[in-house]
Amino acid sequence: MKKILVTGGCGYIGSHTIVDLFENGFDVVSVDDNSRSTKYALKGIKEITGKDVKHYEVDLKDYAATKTIFEENKDIVGIIHFAAYKAVGESCEIPVSYYENNMVSLINLLKCVEAYQVKYFVFSSSCTVYGNPDPENIPVTELTPTKPAESPYGATKQMGERVITDFSKVSNANAILLRYFNPVGAHPSNAIGELPLGKPMNLVPVITQTAIGKLPKMHVWGSDYDTRDGSCLRDYIHVCDIARAHTLALEYLITGKNKTKCDIFNLGSGNGVTVLEAIKTFEAVSGVSLNYEMGPRRSGDVVAIYANNEYAVTQLGWNPKYNITDMMRTAWEWELKIQKESDAMKA
Ligand code: WQD
Repeated sequence: MKKILVTGGCGYIGSHTIVDLFENGFDVVSVDDNSRSTKYALKGIKEITGKDVKHYEVDLKDYAATKTIFEENKDIVGIIHFAAYKAVGESCEIPVSYYENNMVSLINLLKCVEAYQVKYFVFSSSCTVYGNPDPENIPVTELTPTKPAESPYGATKQMGERVITDFSKVSNANAILLRYFNPVGAHPSNAIGELPLGKPMNLVPVITQTAIGKLPKMHVWGSDYDTRDGSCLRDYIHVCDIARAHTLALEYLITGKNKTKCDIFNLGSGNGVTVLEAIKTFEAVSGVSLNYEMGPRRSGDVVAIYANNEYAVTQLGWNPKYNITDMMRTAWEWELKIQKESDAMKA
C-alpha cells in the first residue's frame, strides 16, 4: 500500500482528500500544525472510512521537526501539500506572515523530498495565480498567461509553482500543480466539512453561518463589477470533486502518464456563478432568507474567473459530479450538524 504524506491533513480539503485516498487503497500520514484546524476532522475520517489517521502536529516551518516525520516513515512515496494560509483578504492585512508560512513550509518539504527520495509531489495551487484575467481569456486554461497576483496569498501560490517547477527539473521527483477554483460544500456523510476557526472569510461558510444565526448579517463585497449582476463571478467546485482529483493525480504520476516533470491542471467545475447567484441558490436549497447587504469591494478580489477544466477531465479521467445546488445543500447540512453538536455540548 503506497504511503502518502498529506500536509494540512486536519484542514478542509486535506481531510476530504484523506478519505478519498483511503477509499482508493492508499496509506496516509497526516501533518498539521493545527494553528487553523482541529483534530476533529480525524474523527470524521474514521467515521467514514473506519481508519485511524497517523497524525503529526508539526509546524512545517520547523525543518528538524518536519524531518522527523520522514525519519519515522521512510516508506513515504508521495506528498500532497495543502498546508498554507489561504484567505485572500487576510493576506492583504498580514502579507509577511503569508510569505513566511507558505514559502518556508514548502521549501522545508522540498528539502525532505530530496533527502528521502520521495517520488511524487502534488501541490495545492490556486486559480489566483491567473490574477485578474482579461474577459477574452475567461474561461481560463492552463496555458492562459498568469498576471500579477491580486493578493499576497495569490503571490505565494505563483512563487510556490515557480519553486516546484525549478525543483522538479533537477530532482528525481515528479510534481503536479493543481489550480483549485473555489472549493465549497461538505462530504455527503456529513462527518467532515469546512470548520473555519473564528470568523469565516470565505463566501460559503459566511452564508451558512449567517443563515444559522452565528453571524447577524453578511455583506456582498462589491455590486458594481462588470459582471451580469454586478457581483464577483467565481467557479465553485465541490470539495469531494477536488479530493478525487488528488488521488487521480497521484495515480497519473505513479503510472507514468505525466507529460513533463511538473504538469498543471485546473480544478474547476467549468461554470461561473456570481455571489448573488450563489446566495439565491442557497436560499432556494435551505428555505432560509439570508440577511445580506451590498457592501464595498474587498481588496485583493478578482472580478471574474472560471475554469476550462477539459485538460484535467481528459488527462486525469476526472469527472466532477456535484453541482452548485449539491454544494449549497451539503454545506448547509454540515452547518446544521455542527450547530446541533455544539448545542448538545452546551446542554
Ligand atoms: C468569493 C467571492 C468575495 C465573503 C478563494 C480561496 C482561495 C482560492 C480561491 C483555493 C468574492 C465574495 C466573500 C463575504 C462576499 N482557492 N464574498 N462576502 O476570494 O475567491 O478565494 O478561492 O486556493 O484560497 O480563498 O473566495 O470565498 O473569499 O470569495 O461577497 O462575506 O465572495 O468578495 O467575490 P476567493 P471567497
